[in-house]
Formats: sequence, structure tokens, C-alpha cells
Amino acid sequence: MSIDLDQARNDTPGVQETIHFNNAGAALMPQLVLDSVITHLQLEARIGGYEAADQERAAIEDVYSAGSELLNCHPEEIAVVENATRAWDMLFYALPFQKGDRILTAGCEYSSNYIAYLQVQKQLGVSVDVIPNDQFGQVSVAALESMLDERVKLISITHVPSSGGLVNPAKEIGQVARREGIAYLLDACQSVGQVPIDVQDIGCDFLSATGRKYLRGPRGTGFLYVSKEKLASLEPPFLDIHAADWSSRDTYTVRDDARRFENWETNFSTKIGLAVAIRYALHWGIQEIQERVVSLADLLRSQLSEIAGIVVTDSVTSHDELPQVSHDLLPHGPNEKI
Ligand SMILES: Cc1ncc(COP(=O)(O)O)c(C=O)c1O
Repeated sequence: MSIDLDQARNDTPGVQETIHFNNAGAALMPQLVLDSVITHLQLEARIGGYEAADQERAAIEDVYSAGSELLNCHPEEIAVVENATRAWDMLFYALPFQKGDRILTAGCEYSSNYIAYLQVQKQLGVSVDVIPNDQFGQVSVAALESMLDERVKLISITHVPSSGGLVNPAKEIGQVARREGIAYLLDACQSVGQVPIDVQDIGCDFLSATGRKYLRGPRGTGFLYVSKEKLASLEPPFLDIHAADWSSRDTYTVRDDARRFENWETNFSTKIGLAVAIRYALHWGIQEIQERVVSLADLLRSQLSEIAGIVVTDSVTSHDELPQVSHDLLPHGPNEKI
């Protein structure tokens, strides 16, 4: 199905009054996402929060089914938390690093992730090595291969960095990680919702994403994919009565599924809103959304280049053709806030 633009605009109350380009920050919600959140809040106000959660169990649970359809995984491999950073952190801090281990990451890494690397470097004596870029500004897969040794315990990159439009070769990196048996964590915060994401095809073990950007969900929503193969070996840094069972006075049992990375008290209205947002994106088709994004980007570049005084240095015409610019020059690094 191609996107019916009139319908999409009618579905989006914000476009009536705002020309809004900040999807990399937080996109405009469709009306039905907004309605689903408000309706649940109103139900909570009418009958009580616990009772509303019981009554709307199916709508709440749908976030796991919708998320698994979006990423091509099992619903048990999805955890839903309050943002992508918390999803990423819960996974990262569950990894059993030891002194001397190495983390390989990219030059265009998200700042919060890099702060976490520095913290484990400081606390555990892990080293953090940045994979050089290739001539297009992407993570160089050849350089990655040349950096591998038995001390590398994690490859952790951002798929689409927060500013600049670069798309890192997530699948090629996944092939290396799989071949070498190295854990692979993908920050897909800026790619989920605008680029088809198939975790089996990419070959990542873990993936974090947010609801409010290209999925157009409510703020304060994020989710984590953890592959079944890795799940059992990972104990989250925080546990509570949702993540684990206090089985006897001195023991606890961590739950089997990815919800071990969640916590008990949560915002049920936004969980429903996220499910509705994912279903809405799936209804248009992520492939179709990507085609629309690419065609708008092409239009922007061609029309900008017609304006005197503007030089368009990025001549990308398709998702795969990346510009010959150094993305090291983009504003990533200390103090970046997106
Ligand atoms: C690449 C990337 N990773 C992670 C995040 C953090 O997402 P959240 O604010 O949902 O924690 C962002 C937010 O802008 C981002 O751009």
C-alpha cells in the first residue's frame, strides 16, 4: 500500500497548525494514538488504575505483539520501558564485563551510550575502542574486522546517529558479530519506524528503540529487544517483583522473558499508545514510510540546490548511497543533547 497523504494528514491533528520537522526529536502523534492514551487515563480516573489495567489487558499486551511484528522477533523478546536510554542501559549494565574486556563502538555514538562506556571503563577497567569510519562516513566493517581479538566482548553501535542522516551498516556488522560470536547491541532509536528493521536479518542480539520519534508514539516510551538465546544468561542491574519472584526467604527467580528488564509500576496509557502507534506505522508499511522519507529527502536536496548561495554537499539519491563527507565533523560527542 502506498501512503494516502490526505488520510495521513487528516489523522494528524498537529499538521493543521504546525509545520513540524522535528521527527528526530519527537514526531506529531496521530489522533488515534492520542485518543488511546487519553481514553485509558479517563478509564483510570473513572474506575481506578489497577482496575483499568485489568480491563484493558489485551490492549496493553498488544504492545509486545506489535513490537515483535515490527522487529521480526517473539513477543517474549520485547521489554517496554520509559525510554530508549533506559532500555539500552538495562541491557548494557547486565552484560558481565571484566577487567581487560573491550567494547567496540562507532565514532557517531549516542552520547548517553558513550557515558555508560566510560563508566564501565572507570569502574571495571574495560577498554572502549572506536571503530574508524570508511570514506563514506559509515562504520568501516574492514576496520572492525581488523580490531577483533578474544578480548572484544561487545560491538555496540548506533544505527542512525541523532543528527546527520548517516545510516551505519548494521547488517554487515551483524554478520561479523555472529561469525565471531561477539555480543552485538544496536541503538535503533532513530531508525525504528523509518527504516525496516528485522533483527534476524541484522543479526543483533539486542536492540533499543524509542516510541516518540519515527513511530509517532507518546513521549516516555521505549523498548528493548533481547534475543532468546542471550536472555537466560543476563541478569538486569535492577530487579523488582515484576522482574523476579521472591521464591523463598533467601532466593529469587528472575522471570524467563525479556520483561525481566522492565519494572512493576509503569504508565499503562502510554503502553497502549505505543501499541497503537506501532500498529499505525505497520498499517502504512515501514517500507512505504522509508520510501516517502527518501523521496522527501531527495526533493529537499534538489530544491535546496536550486537556491543561490546554497551548496548541497550530500547528493544521496537512495538509502544505500551515502555521501562522501566525514561524519566525524557532525556534532556528536561531549555536550550533544538531542
Ligand atoms: C540515537 C539515539 N539513541 C538514543 C536516544 C535516546 O532516546 P530516549 O530519549 O528515548 O532515551 C536518542 C534520542 O534522541 C537517539 O537519537
